[in-house]
Amino acid sequence: MHARYVVKDTFYKKAKKDGYRARSAYKLEEIQQKFTLIKKGDRVLDLGAAPGSWVQLESVLVGPGGLVVGFDILPITPVPASNVVLKKADIREVDVQGLLRETGTPAFDVVTSDIAPNLSGIRDADIARIHELYLAVLRITDEALRRGGGFLIKLFFSPDFADMEAALKPRFSKVATFKPKASRSVSDEVYLVCTGKK
Ligand SMILES: C[S@@+](CC[C@H](N)C(=O)[O-])C[C@H]1O[C@@H](n2cnc3c(N)ncnc32)[C@H](O)[C@@H]1O
Repeated sequence: MHARYVVKDTFYKKAKKDGYRARSAYKLEEIQQKFTLIKKGDRVLDLGAAPGSWVQLESVLVGPGGLVVGFDILPITPVPASNVVLKKADIREVDVQGLLRETGTPAFDVVTSDIAPNLSGIRDADIARIHELYLAVLRITDEALRRGGGFLIKLFFSPDFADMEAALKPRFSKVATFKPKASRSVSDEVYLVCTGKK
């Protein structure tokens, strides 16, 4: 069997067994093990959260004293945990100040984004769509993340990768590139893990 499918199959089966809604949880788990991005008591904002495996893991990582707010344009099946709030919205239209008021939080400690658009197959249109989403993620992060806070974003190797890296470097004290094992070897996705928002 091709290595790509072996990896996919292994993590898919493990996710089913562990009760995660998607195998993406293991990518976040690896990132967490290496960078300890999320801590007990943190308030985490997750952008592009459906079906919800990152929210499931983040809810456990922050514990009962923390908060996880997940946004997706698609409805997300409720996560049965008192520290989770799920919202159905297009992140390009999120009113950050309204969100902070509504959740009673002055700012978030961590923003995570696994966002990926539905691709049309028309290259230029898809690049424009991805670019627009990345700008929305940056806008929300600028407004919602506290000083010193952490940020995680999934990117695809595209012209946007270098642009996003360049945009993040002056905003954070550290910006690291990470490719989790749970990412299929042939997939062009890569994560930027940023700490110490300036
Ligand atoms: C790879 S999935 C996220 C998986 C998630 N991290 C998990 O572990 O379950 C990417 C998500 O981005 C969402 N998305 C795409 N465009 C969006 C938008 N404009 N606003 C909000 N969510 C969006 C998609 O609906 C999709 O659910």
